[in-house]
Amino acid sequence: MKIKSICCIGAGYVGGPTMAVIAQKNPNIKVTVVDLNAQRIVDWNNKDLSKLPIYEPGLDDVVAEARGRNLFFSTKVDEAIDQAQMIFISVNTPTKTYGAGKGMAADLKYVELCARQIAKVATRDKIVVEKSTLPVKTAEAIQNILDNTGNGVDFQILSNPEFLAEGTAMRDLAVPDRVLIGGDSTTSKGQEAIQALVEIYASWVPKENILTTNVWSSELSKLTANAFLAQRVSSINSLSELCEVTGANIQEVAKAIGMDSRIGSKFLQVSVGFGGSCFQKDILNLVYIAKSLGLNEVADYWHQVILMNNHQRERFAKKIIKTLYSTISGKTIAFLGWAFKKDTNDTRESAAIYVADSLMDEQAIIKVYDPKVTSTQMQLDLNYLNTRSESENIKYLKTQIDPYTAMDGAHAIAVLTEWDEFKSYDWKRIYKNMQKPAFIFDGRNVLDRQILENIGFIYKGIGY
Ligand code: NAD
Ligand code: UGA
Repeated sequence: MKIKSICCIGAGYVGGPTMAVIAQKNPNIKVTVVDLNAQRIVDWNNKDLSKLPIYEPGLDDVVAEARGRNLFFSTKVDEAIDQAQMIFISVNTPTKTYGAGKGMAADLKYVELCARQIAKVATRDKIVVEKSTLPVKTAEAIQNILDNTGNGVDFQILSNPEFLAEGTAMRDLAVPDRVLIGGDSTTSKGQEAIQALVEIYASWVPKENILTTNVWSSELSKLTANAFLAQRVSSINSLSELCEVTGANIQEVAKAIGMDSRIGSKFLQVSVGFGGSCFQKDILNLVYIAKSLGLNEVADYWHQVILMNNHQRERFAKKIIKTLYSTISGKTIAFLGWAFKKDTNDTRESAAIYVADSLMDEQAIIKVYDPKVTSTQMQLDLNYLNTRSESENIKYLKTQIDPYTAMDGAHAIAVLTEWDEFKSYDWKRIYKNMQKPAFIFDGRNVLDRQILENIGFIYKGIGY
């Protein structure tokens, strides 16, 4: 089976970039990305490529190449489903905020809505691909809905989880470590569906990097990959606290252990805590699945990764308060960075939100500079926590469009995101214009401690 037409439901951080690359590499396939959020679609269609709804280095070039040729963004969901042979579901699967599994399980209502809509509209056979991250066994539920509410056509379900990381998404998509495709290889229709998706990726990914498994292994591998990555960050962060009280240096420890080829050097960068839309959500989901199956030891083991991350964020905020003589009411603390990592405008679960919240509890004034995050987004992030009124959030958190203005007159600076530009600031000028003693809390260990201490700053990094 040769696929000529694809629809992707969900034009977010995954749907947009993945489909842009599939369209770029397969000029003969028509790819239509649809979303209920009309503004998002307007932004994806913006002629000015700097106004795309997500910031991702290199995305603008790929969109420029494919958009209007064989890549389209639209709100016409039914039409796109009807025309496509293959439909990717790439909608959000956030942690549930209500009912059974509240705060732990993945909320699958958006996925179910997609399945019902596909079933309603489809009058020809379709391949349905799970691109969203889903609990193991979700394909069974999707199959059930499709078969019971559909028009009698055949639906093949595949799992094709996405492993891109934000900030490096275009490279991750262009040269993926692997592409994972789960399907039912016990039937000829299942094999055909798997092969059809393999062929799409084979346009640019070497066949040996395209891994096919059964559906459940594929679904579970995605949750597990994120759990393992997050676990490494929590492991190194846990040791940073031990370093601070013993005089060991976490950077030296990370280097020493990372050179063991069995351990490897990646994901050993100590930080103020991991953020992003997925690590916490996916581990909580894993914990929930294990608990639901009565596997309490498994659940407790993974839950600790989250508890350690919460501790690391709280510890950072407490250190700032304690160092500033345990009184920060009315003091100004400049934040460098709000995004959950560099090279993205995504702020979901960013450590900056939680650290700001703790400092605002103590009535500090936070002045934030981030090269890609808007003031509206920062206020939304704080309001979502529901800690205080919207007007109080506006009173205590001020967004600055210039980093020097953010740091002028500040009592302390806190680095929350590892944006490269922070390293090349005029630190002498910044020191001159700050309150003394001038403190820097480097939550990413990105600044040069020696240079800053020579200027006169009191520098506090993580784990050394
Ligand atoms: P997102 O919130 O950026 O995008 C999801 C989009 O789906 C939204 O624009 C929303 O309006 C749309 N949507 C929801 N229901 C819809 C419906 N019924 N019809 C049409 N549109 C609908 O989310 P995301 O970050 O792209 O994540 C999507 C999935 O991919 C999640 O399951 C996530 O866990 C997974 N994932 C995310 C990343 C990442 O880096 N963000 C990486 C790998 C996997
Ligand atoms: C992560 C995974 O890396 C992707 O493979 C996965 O597809 C994605 O989640 C997902 O499912 O959403 P992402 O969250 O975009 O990608 O970014 P990461 O590079 O993994 O960083 C996550 C968080 O961990 C960031 O806050 C980052 O600053 C932090 N981190 C990462 C560290 O603190 N130290 C490290 O060594 C690495």
